[in-house]
Amino acid sequence: MKRLAILGSTGSIGRNVLRVVEQFPDEFSVVALTAGRNIDLLGEQLKRFSPQVAVVLDDKLARRLRQQFVPGDHVEILYGADGYEAAATFGSADLVVSAMVGSAGLLPTLAAIEHGKAIGLANKESLVMAGEVLTRTARDKGVAIIPIDSEHSAIFQCLAGHRRQDLKQILLTASGGPFLDKPTEGLDDISPEVALRHPTWDMGPKVTIDSATLMNKGLEVIEARWLFDVALERIQVVIHPESIIHSMVVYQDSSVIAQLALPDMRIPIAYALSYPERLDLGLSPPDFFELGALTFREPDLERFPCLALAIEACRAGKTYPAVLNAANEVAVHAFLDRRIGFGHIAGTIQETMAKHEPVSNPRLPDILSADAWARRTAEETV
Ligand SMILES: NC(=O)c1ccc[n+]([C@@H]2O[C@H](COP(=O)([O-])OP(=O)(O)OC[C@H]3O[C@@H](n4cnc5c(N)ncnc54)[C@H](OP(=O)(O)O)[C@@H]3O)[C@@H](O)[C@H]2O)c1
Repeated sequence: MKRLAILGSTGSIGRNVLRVVEQFPDEFSVVALTAGRNIDLLGEQLKRFSPQVAVVLDDKLARRLRQQFVPGDHVEILYGADGYEAAATFGSADLVVSAMVGSAGLLPTLAAIEHGKAIGLANKESLVMAGEVLTRTARDKGVAIIPIDSEHSAIFQCLAGHRRQDLKQILLTASGGPFLDKPTEGLDDISPEVALRHPTWDMGPKVTIDSATLMNKGLEVIEARWLFDVALERIQVVIHPESIIHSMVVYQDSSVIAQLALPDMRIPIAYALSYPERLDLGLSPPDFFELGALTFREPDLERFPCLALAIEACRAGKTYPAVLNAANEVAVHAFLDRRIGFGHIAGTIQETMAKHEPVSNPRLPDILSADAWARRTAEETV
């Protein structure tokens, strides 16, 4: 029985993790759950999964959540940064699922690694902000970071059983999002409702907007760079609208190994939870006769400037990726709040990056201050 601490259990990934747990009650138990503000759903999850610790954003939410429980319910309800750290480092947890959205995931994920916990990583933003710090700490502590992002799970699977020195290139696939073929002139007028409709994946709002701008793919390039310790030059984004091939690895002999599955996050989630075993989720493989064809295109960096900005930030290194990530979070929220148009997301990030004075070989405090500076600057730009 593997004991799980799930950070972000009320989100799209968190709920899918709990679906897998529910399907395999003899394989997994839950010792800690964390949410942000959705205490109604968290309350239901606490009753269903009986963890020992639950965490919410602030004191007021914690008090409201406690009112739902009678003395004798053995769940400790904590809040804020200390609470998230307590959940991430909870003594009996064997695996910490890092599935909060955004920069909020960084400190709990780092704390879990420092405590030697194996990580199932969905929160790509933490690797974008502090890839070097997180991967070095994981190496020092002998901690495995197992990707949950479907593309990185695919790469992880394509690398298994092969010699790392034989790797030539990573082909990171992207659906292209809902605006792959929309005329560029119309992009400025897109409403949040339209941008939130993703053609192949059902995800939380931030990652859905990131998928529409292709910033998600840019963040994933940086995630892959750190997770698999490969140079940026070896990572190529490939647009693949059907989302059946989740990524590929090219080897020295020009063989290409790919991982294919229908787009269902339970597949990479279950693999991360049960690695190296595979669970029978009761899902079907792709029906190739029905699919007929799989298609591929080169990404258009002019149409999707966010992808170009992320590649630039990855190449520039230093504190640029943290600034890119923070400015993107501010711009996405501003778009969802209708304060800026869809087409201004990239401009906000670009202006913020242009004003940044980077720090070389950043340590955690440098990263956190670059993040705070970028949020203020991007907010002013908005
Ligand atoms: N969804 C996918 O299919 C998918 C695929 C690959 C990777 N990812 C990555 O997985 C992560 C989660 O994505 P998601 O789609 O599951 O997001 P989501 O549905 O928006 O859920 C986010 C989770 O984080 C919590 N949260 C939000 N702000 C927080 C804060 N300041 N402090 C603590 N907790 C906070 C939310 O709590 P409340 O809702 O209770 O406020 C919720 O539990 C992201 O990094 C995303 O890029 C997602």
